[in-house]
Amino acid sequence: MKNISIAIDGPSGAGKSTLARAVAAQVGCLYVDTGAIYRTIGYYALTHGIDPKDGAAVAKSLPDVQVELTYGEDGLQHMLLNGQDVTKEIRLPEVSLYASAVSAHRPVRDFLLDMQRQLARTHSVIMDGRDIGTVVLPDADVKVYLTASAQARARRRCAELEQRGTPEPFEKVLREIQERDWNDIHRDTAPLRQAEDAVLLDTTELTFQESEAALLHIIRERTHL
Ligand code: DC
Repeated sequence: MKNISIAIDGPSGAGKSTLARAVAAQVGCLYVDTGAIYRTIGYYALTHGIDPKDGAAVAKSLPDVQVELTYGEDGLQHMLLNGQDVTKEIRLPEVSLYASAVSAHRPVRDFLLDMQRQLARTHSVIMDGRDIGTVVLPDADVKVYLTASAQARARRRCAELEQRGTPEPFEKVLREIQERDWNDIHRDTAPLRQAEDAVLLDTTELTFQESEAALLHIIRERTHL
């Protein structure tokens, strides 16, 4: 049977990865977190003293960067940077802004495009990111634009950080979310926007279970999954 591709885009902290991972398990698709790929490049810049906003410097470093996406025995996506597993490190808060900054440069996006498309050619996937429905997989079978208000996203992020034992003030979390939104929406290359044929799912007023049910419904209405 033909591989199915499901594109989920939206701003930071809208719950894309948690929801997409949960739904992928139920419909038997491979879950691909493309943010992790940009985070890996961001992490490289951070650990090699490269200014992530300097497009020329970032582009110059790309030949030295080997990024691999693998699936561990735990079934989870792992990122390898020059052979080293950096899955945990790329979640450090300081990597977020680096990832957002490096992702604005076209050479970085071109460098990672094939890798993402190749995964969709060889598997049925649920891929989440910012430009999956608009650039990476414009012919995806299902496109969803998943969003929530910045306040709701900051509240959820604060709860998550508190649970992890690394609480941060709400105002700081909100400011960072707004800064990343601005970067992601205003960059010239593949900016974050809703594809014309994407279904809008706003989870501001929804619980996790309600959001999951809504996402499953959208997918099942449009595929045989
Ligand atoms: O989803 P995330 O927060 O882990 O993504 C980190 C950064 O990577 C985010 O600020 C924007 C960028 N990104 C992107 O430009 N395109 C994607 N498809 C996925 C992420």
